[in-house]
Amino acid sequence: MKLRCLRARPAAALLLLALAACGGGGGGNDGPLPTFDTSAVAAADPGSPLPADWRSGVFAEIFVRAYKDSDGDGIGDLRGLTAQLDYLRDLGVSGLWLMPVMPSQDGDHGYAVTDYRTIEPRYGSLADFDELLRQAHARGIGVVIDYVMNHSAAQHPAFVNSRDSSANPWRDWYVWQPSKPGGWNVFGADPWHNAGNGYYYYGAFWDQMPDFNLKNAAVVGWHHDNLRFWLNRGVDGFRFDAVGNLVENGPSAWESQPQNYVLMDQVRQLAGGYAQRYVVCESPANPIPFATACGAAFAFGHQFDVINAAKGDTAAVQAVAGYFATAPLGMATFASNHDSFAGQRLWDQLGGDQARYRMAAATTLLQPGTPFIYYGEEIGMAGAASLTGDPKLRTPMSWSGTAAGFTSGTPFRAVSANIATQNVAAQQADPNSLLNYYKALISLRRSLPSLSQGSYAAGSAAGTLLTFQRVAGGERSVVVINYGTAPATATVGGLPAGTVLANAFPPSGTDLSTDAGGTLSVPVPAQSVRVLVLRS
Ligand code: GLC
Repeated sequence: MKLRCLRARPAAALLLLALAACGGGGGGNDGPLPTFDTSAVAAADPGSPLPADWRSGVFAEIFVRAYKDSDGDGIGDLRGLTAQLDYLRDLGVSGLWLMPVMPSQDGDHGYAVTDYRTIEPRYGSLADFDELLRQAHARGIGVVIDYVMNHSAAQHPAFVNSRDSSANPWRDWYVWQPSKPGGWNVFGADPWHNAGNGYYYYGAFWDQMPDFNLKNAAVVGWHHDNLRFWLNRGVDGFRFDAVGNLVENGPSAWESQPQNYVLMDQVRQLAGGYAQRYVVCESPANPIPFATACGAAFAFGHQFDVINAAKGDTAAVQAVAGYFATAPLGMATFASNHDSFAGQRLWDQLGGDQARYRMAAATTLLQPGTPFIYYGEEIGMAGAASLTGDPKLRTPMSWSGTAAGFTSGTPFRAVSANIATQNVAAQQADPNSLLNYYKALISLRRSLPSLSQGSYAAGSAAGTLLTFQRVAGGERSVVVINYGTAPATATVGGLPAGTVLANAFPPSGTDLSTDAGGTLSVPVPAQSVRVLVLRS
């Protein structure tokens, strides 16, 4: 009875009727139970207006709430973001990842979703989202949105129904036990929460984030309908949250279970049925296996090696040289993101040392992978001095020297500690700024197919000197990064004898020739980068 009702997946308007027919409702809840949209969504691909290579460009991770406020309420919104698209185009990015834009219970980062088929009202409307897509596409920029399949908000109507009674047809959409299971420890906490009605539900992250039961085909089918809802609107793909947590098989089998890979493989195929979409997964524990299932995954762990290499740690330089010898070339690389477990803002990790900062940026932008720049990283935004934890990393974008660049009202959160010096207005005017360094490297990457799409070869570390090559077609880029504080000379062998390599970076560099044995000597000043290109 229950399953038959679920399979029918009644349209939203008919849901209350269907609930009654299925014997749901009542129980511990006095009022009528809330409804939500469970209507089936068939694939209807509007196509992709983006250039064929948009997925091999650089992405920006955007926290809409903190990016740009268009209406003076102190909270960033979609219209604000749309107004800044020229800035993002000029930075050179070809994709945006928006942290959750759906309505949420947490009212901040957005990962406790209360409605999967609309826009958070304080961010705007679906019409505003459509306009953002149009405007981004017109600039050759794709838009990828965060999708949380693992859990909903406790206030999501599906969970309100599910917790109402064990006879409710939505009961099996979440994970219930009649008594508290023992022996569980997920991220240092007990994931079983007392519903107050004699039952316990599973929520890996928070008692207000109940995990969906993804062993229930109806739940998976509904998520697929939600995904098609967004894909049919023209969204260019998804960042999938917490894919290591999707399915639980026991107290010592709750992370990266075999079913998780199957689920993400299905999602990759669903999105792959649409033109030129992109899927990237978040699994801090198992990034490389999920890169295969999802198509791409964030390169957790690698960011710390890059940052330590930038500090001159020779073991980290070794690790950076070796990473892409085995990791898939499509790993989504990043220096930091919105989660403090992934590290503080890059500026804070490097104590504001701009020479080291540039080396970390150059490593991420010149190695393989799809680099994701966390908003404000390109101007060296620090965390807020008065805050700790995740909020510290999620401050209003420093458009100018004060909060007035972000909002005409009162910002929802303290601004970054270094807003007076590290802001867009100041750096646009300075040719030697960090912002212009990022722009130069992104533009270099875009101009050389070997850097944006090429293979990885001859990665090697010698102390604080890193060399590697990138190859695409007849183009070979030789990259040398000197993390050390003294000038050095890199020796790169195995190249054609007596051949000129054209200087590509820095603009002031000169062409260099290999010797009669096919070896290139590349002098590199302290804490700097050189890129030379061989074309056959
Ligand atoms: C991921 C997100 C994080 C969120 C959590 C639960 O780790 O990056 O911000 O709180 O999942 O959704």
